[in-house]
Amino acid sequence: MTITQDPTAPLVAVVGATGAQGGSVIKALAESNKPYRIRGFTRDSTKPASQQLVAQGVEMHTISLVLANLKSVFDAFAGANMVFLVTNFWEHLDAERETAEAKMMIDAAKAAGVDRIVWSGLPDYSKLSGGKYTHVVHFDGKAAVAEYGRRSGVPFVDVQAGYYASNLLSPGRTPIKGRTDGAFAIRVPVSPTTSLPVFDAERDYGLYVRHVLEAPVLPDGAEVRTGEYLTMAEMALQISQATGKRVVVEQIPMEQYEKEAAAKGLPPHVVLDMSDGYNSVSEFGYYGGKTSPSVEGLARTPISFSEFAKTADWTKVLV
Ligand SMILES: NC(=O)c1ccc[n+]([C@@H]2O[C@H](COP(=O)([O-])OP(=O)(O)OC[C@H]3O[C@@H](n4cnc5c(N)ncnc54)[C@H](OP(=O)(O)O)[C@@H]3O)[C@@H](O)[C@H]2O)c1
Repeated sequence: MTITQDPTAPLVAVVGATGAQGGSVIKALAESNKPYRIRGFTRDSTKPASQQLVAQGVEMHTISLVLANLKSVFDAFAGANMVFLVTNFWEHLDAERETAEAKMMIDAAKAAGVDRIVWSGLPDYSKLSGGKYTHVVHFDGKAAVAEYGRRSGVPFVDVQAGYYASNLLSPGRTPIKGRTDGAFAIRVPVSPTTSLPVFDAERDYGLYVRHVLEAPVLPDGAEVRTGEYLTMAEMALQISQATGKRVVVEQIPMEQYEKEAAAKGLPPHVVLDMSDGYNSVSEFGYYGGKTSPSVEGLARTPISFSEFAKTADWTKVLV
């Protein structure tokens, strides 16, 4: 545990500290043998995740990082040497807001004089699909932020998150459904041979960010990709092997997928975002055919999906 209060240690400001990615970044920095001061942000300092971080020595700062709080946002980043930035599109489903808030945080980090910004971006699906799939706003918006960050004049790296393995475990988010024949289906509007770079985001996303923050020379402008490419069929097989339950992939027609997504209450632009996302991943790849994520130089090896499947609690979804 190397979270310190020593004023000579670099101060890392971590957005999303109580969430999956920011929480993982803090875990990874705490595991480092280099000392860090860490400032985390939350809107609610009474929540258990925030209090646990305080107990670990993280300075928790209560703030909502929205445009209406511009002045406080700039104050909140003051004194930081490095920052990790993430936005949560799924809370408001508004890509313009997401982009504007992220740009504001880049401006605030720059004004604070930080020497490294790590941004949690995603690829631009409008571009990489050659204009075929233009509705994946929660990807394209994050890519626009990366462009802005690269032009900011502050050393900037985009650490892109793969598909969270934990999506499969979350009853509200999982595509897994029980079937009448006793098997379980991962129901998706793409072929079982479609690959996703799956990973344990909560455990391992921070490893990649730590690697960037600790690089002797920051790979300024770089994109870092995370996750282990597996086909949907391989994921299903590995869950079956880990749990002893029969899990298969069931490809459903896109129209049916869209209907079901709309029935869950998702607004039309988000239904389109999801369907274009699936189409783009299936035709062009999650990272648009760019090289496989590299694990070289990480402080430890990320957990494989098969290991994740063995240790995960599937009882809420395989029922
Ligand atoms: N699920 C996937 O497979 C996947 C893959 C790639 C990328 N992503 C991206 O991951 C992002 C979400 O990251 P995550 O999974 O780490 O989120 P998360 O676990 O849901 O946590 C969200 C974090 O953001 C903080 N936050 C949200 N709004 C805030 C505000 N106005 N001011 C201050 N803090 C705020 C929350 O803090 P408090 O609640 O404590 O205030 C919390 O710490 C999304 O944009 C999504 O597109 C997801």
